[in-house]
Amino acid sequence: MFPRGFAWGAATAAYQIEGGWQADGRGPSIWDTFSHETGRVFGDQNGDVACKSYELWEEDLRSILQLGLTHYRLSVSWARLLPDGTTQHVNHKGVEYYNKVIDNLLTANVTPMVTLYHFDLPQALQDQGGWKSPNIAALFDSYARFCFQTFGDRVKLWITINEPYVCAKLGHEDGIHAPGLEEPGGRAAYLVGHNMLRAHALAWHSYDAFFRPKHEGLVSLAINSDWLEPLEPDCAEDVSATERHLAFTLGWFAWPVFVSGDYPEIMRAVIDANSKTHGFNSESRLPIFSKDEPPILGTADFFALNYYTSRKVTSGCGHSDILSMKSDRGAQEVLDPSWPISGVSWLAVVPHGLRRLLSYIKKNFSDPAIYITENGFAQVGSLEMEDVQRGKFYTETISEVAKAITEDGVNVRGYFAWSLMDNFEWADGYSVRFGLFHVDFSDEKRKRTMYRSGREYAKLILKYSTEHEGPHPNH
Ligand code: BGC
Repeated sequence: MFPRGFAWGAATAAYQIEGGWQADGRGPSIWDTFSHETGRVFGDQNGDVACKSYELWEEDLRSILQLGLTHYRLSVSWARLLPDGTTQHVNHKGVEYYNKVIDNLLTANVTPMVTLYHFDLPQALQDQGGWKSPNIAALFDSYARFCFQTFGDRVKLWITINEPYVCAKLGHEDGIHAPGLEEPGGRAAYLVGHNMLRAHALAWHSYDAFFRPKHEGLVSLAINSDWLEPLEPDCAEDVSATERHLAFTLGWFAWPVFVSGDYPEIMRAVIDANSKTHGFNSESRLPIFSKDEPPILGTADFFALNYYTSRKVTSGCGHSDILSMKSDRGAQEVLDPSWPISGVSWLAVVPHGLRRLLSYIKKNFSDPAIYITENGFAQVGSLEMEDVQRGKFYTETISEVAKAITEDGVNVRGYFAWSLMDNFEWADGYSVRFGLFHVDFSDEKRKRTMYRSGREYAKLILKYSTEHEGPHPNH
């Protein structure tokens, strides 16, 4: 069912697990600043200590081995490696830490996939304008080259930026993620998305020109998308609202990289028109890619997809007089009452949505190799170590991935569960638990204990990874 060499993984991100926010010369990031402000995060919690992975990496490794993962996706913290964000000052302790992590993984026969940016911009760069500043692309490129140079002899799977949509929209329009900017009008979100695409493309071109010849790795960016389908499939307005919505989420980042080197036409048309109506006469709020910079088209060696949930879409009252990204897209999301809700209200459980989204990607983005770089299920409230629902979720979702491969011919190369362990769930703090391992946040040692769903995922991995290759080395 799953091709030989299929990646069975779990994912984490630096700020969500490491803690050690001031240890050994790490610089502050925008999530330190944001979470230290009152009222930003549930219970005013923060990632100062988190799962203590900076101190207790060996515990993470033990968990990874217990699950029998073939791959582990982690992110490196820009501010831990380069405290002021620039290569003028390298924090060698940070380099040592990630060297240890990478080396230990390889010794244990686990392949690392490394994300360079998972929401945690060095504060020093935010102070110079952050992702809204055009200079950020070159700064990111220097940081990426530093990482390729330092770790690229051993790391062959790279993600430049995780979920640019989330950074742009939640961080710069909704203000619910760092840096907490609530800028109406859509302009800030589009500008951030644009600079993230430019930064990603520069880094991909650097890898391609200077590192790929000797390291032979692969580089992509992780794009998040819900599966979207019309509320009334026979209603033309719902169908076009769905297309528009897909263009404004998945298409915003996938279209330039995989299809045309530019934004989806519908996005350009709507934003240009709305910009004009609202008096932005000379300039649209959606920036234009400069011909003098390296092209965006073709800057992904595989498709990295983060999928969590699905929505029905109607044109309805998505429009509003206040200009925003949401009003531009003119689509309203509706939950299908038959979809069970996980611990968090936004996460309706729709495993078949992943299969449909995979087919959509195959069809619209030239049948790329796809890694599902995140997918998971949240628990809130009372703790259930026997998390039957989450186990069922993984079994059903993985069976949809199997169908996508065998029945729909989608080229899926790997699946990463979010997350290896409970961690700092951004604005929800520690109130939301996504882990395959429970973490006791009241314990000094942050004791990790495998949930029932972890045992079930381990069984699935063992079953599928031995189908072709004999016993897994870790069992
Ligand atoms: C992010 C993770 C996050 C997860 C669950 C994704 O958007 O990449 O960092 O924890 O979703 O909300």
